[in-house]
Amino acid sequence: MKDRVYIRDLKDHTGKEVVIAGWVDVRRDQGKMVFFDMRDMTGKVQCVALPSRAEVIEKAKTIRPEWVLKITGNVNKRPLKNVKEGVLNGDVELEVTGIEVLNESETPPFAVNEDTSGVNEELRLKYRYVDLRTDRMQKNIRNRHRVLKFIRDFLSNEGFIEVETPILTKSTPEGSRDFVVPARLYPGKFYALPQSPQQYKQLLMTGGVEKYFQIARCMRDEDTRGDRQPEFTQLDLEMSFVEMEDVMQVNEKLFIELVQKLYPEKKIQQIPFPRIPHKEAMEKYGVDKPDIRKDKNDPNLLAFCWIVDWPFFEKTEEGGWTFTHNPFSRPLPEHLDWLMKKENIEKIYTTQYDIILNGSEVGGGSIRNHNGPALEKVFEIMGHKIENIRKNFGHMMTAFSLGTPPHGGIAWGFDRFFMILQNEINIREVIPFAKTGEGRDPMMDSPSEISDEQLKELKIKLSK
Ligand code: AMO
Repeated sequence: MKDRVYIRDLKDHTGKEVVIAGWVDVRRDQGKMVFFDMRDMTGKVQCVALPSRAEVIEKAKTIRPEWVLKITGNVNKRPLKNVKEGVLNGDVELEVTGIEVLNESETPPFAVNEDTSGVNEELRLKYRYVDLRTDRMQKNIRNRHRVLKFIRDFLSNEGFIEVETPILTKSTPEGSRDFVVPARLYPGKFYALPQSPQQYKQLLMTGGVEKYFQIARCMRDEDTRGDRQPEFTQLDLEMSFVEMEDVMQVNEKLFIELVQKLYPEKKIQQIPFPRIPHKEAMEKYGVDKPDIRKDKNDPNLLAFCWIVDWPFFEKTEEGGWTFTHNPFSRPLPEHLDWLMKKENIEKIYTTQYDIILNGSEVGGGSIRNHNGPALEKVFEIMGHKIENIRKNFGHMMTAFSLGTPPHGGIAWGFDRFFMILQNEINIREVIPFAKTGEGRDPMMDSPSEISDEQLKELKIKLSK
């Protein structure tokens, strides 16, 4: 729009006529005069239609909240008695000289000029595009961008590159159920959506990338909770020629600088972050993600800690073994021999490190096995048949036999981490288009049925 001024910058134009565009926030009809607030992505301003402009005031009487307008007006200083200290445009207002209606709006399903946290969530998600206009949701969506940009810049400066990995992939053993996609060209076969980029990022290490990261979308078909979504975002990274301490340190530096630069009002309880062995956490706090905050009522306190020295395996209900975290992890160096001999299985510790923030698991990673026989042993201990291991992970074994460097990495649950930074208690508040607690999207109405034609093409028959 030609000559449009953003509302945040109006003060720089005091005494002049300007053009603004945006949404009507509230309207106060005082008979002779009409006041209304206009809102754009930069803020709000009070507009006044004076009785001296008959055409303007007539139009101003017809406008309603959430209508989209182009306004021409003079930026005036407010009379001293009306100045609002500490508020954007608290000292100026717009005397309207012209109103152009760009689009009308029905009465919105809920008020946009108020916090919507108390509004029925189904309704908010159905009209998410309206919900996103509210102050709090604008803050969440815009700060999310700032935090992601900070991470991208930080890691780029540290020599990492961002690499995209496939979304149509193959089932991985991340410990959760896969979402699958039928492959039309291969009837009866399915892609799986990634639960994480785990295998690809390791293969990027084989590919000589050395320092990889990705803001990666992950999909897991699990029961949702307040801090879980079927589709979520990881900050995923992997590095070659590193040990646990190297990965932990670069991440710690990133967390600290991010908080100090973008959330200066927040205080990190302890730097460097304490490293607590899993056993000690269980004995001292009774949980493997302890909330070590000294003051749990302080909304600006961030207590990070690392949990280390995790058992690699745990007993299954059937009396076999399964991995506690990640089957691709390497045991602690002093326990590698036990893994290779399949001895003292309960005593084998993994190089896993979880990062906990205020009692919430916001990330985890490990050093990986970079040789085939060690990875094979992990699956053997879990009772997999050798031919199945080769069938499912043959590509990893082959890559390991073709010059894979030692490597390790981590993934943060980005939404969870960001939710805590924004002092939100529900992950859905920080995901622009979140799904309900039951994994539905009421706005798009998904999941939904597909047509008989599509089913036929995919050679899929639904059982009753
Ligand atoms: P993990 O499975 O522990 O590790 O996932 C890493 C982090 O992702 C977050 N997370 C979730 N956030 C929202 N909704 C979910 N459904 C959800 N599931 C997990 C958690 C968790 O700590 N590939 C490994 C990482 C690695 O070893 O590098 C992995 O995915 O905050």
